[in-house]
Amino acid sequence: MSPASRSDGAMFANILEKIAGDVALAFSYQAEDVVVLHLLKTFVTRPVEIFTLDTQKLFPETAAYHATVERFFNVRIHARVPDAGATRQLEADLGQWGMRHSLANRHRCCKIRKVDPLESALVGKNAWITGLRAAQSVTRSDLCLLEYDTTHRIIKVNPLADWSEQEVFDHAARHRLPLHPLYGEGFRSIGCAPCTRAVGPDEDIRAGRWWWENPEHKECGLHLRPSPLPRGDK
Ligand code: ADX
Ligand code: SF4
Repeated sequence: MSPASRSDGAMFANILEKIAGDVALAFSYQAEDVVVLHLLKTFVTRPVEIFTLDTQKLFPETAAYHATVERFFNVRIHARVPDAGATRQLEADLGQWGMRHSLANRHRCCKIRKVDPLESALVGKNAWITGLRAAQSVTRSDLCLLEYDTTHRIIKVNPLADWSEQEVFDHAARHRLPLHPLYGEGFRSIGCAPCTRAVGPDEDIRAGRWWWENPEHKECGLHLRPSPLPRGDK
């Protein structure tokens, strides 16, 4: 890691050692998550469950890449799927592209396909780990390495909170980590297929996510404003 980074694998491991109970990594197949998984495998000895929220709207390339990651790291990534009845009703009400027609529609889809399954995945966990970075968006600028997630009422660990995009890709290259194939096609952030497109070289890193919305709306509800832990509790 470059000297500009303040957090590293040892700090991450140190934090995890102090957390009692079960911990899970939310894995979205993006480069950040691959780097976090690499830090986890390199520095952390405690068991950590790895889960992905399979919205059933992911790119076909993502499904294929799932097996690549499992093989490379010798891990199992548990897929959390949305409620079948809720998605049937959603499709009936919105059709295939209705999530693009209004913010309310989009939030409804994200709630059923991502937020509700996340809540199930976090049941019984004391902490979750993400690949979030503060530099990703105006909605994440106050992100900390260690936070209390007031929405899910558990600890949230963001080991790449202060990493730059360049540091993520440098780390992946240095350790020859496999990356999602869509990075080779102009994508810089990868989510669901109907809501993600490639971006041009001068565009913002998240310009391809929900590109029809304003930047302050570009959150799906997984990461609502957590507060930093009070001093002395870390
Ligand atoms: S999102 O809120 O806009 O969708 P983003 O794609 O930036 O989030 O990912 C930020 C972090 O949220 C990822 O590093 C990962 O920890 C978690 N995350 C996002 N999407 C998923 C998913 N489908 N499955 C599991 N974790 C996810
Ligand atoms: Fe639905 Fe798009 Fe949200 Fe995926 S990102 S859950 S397809 S609205």
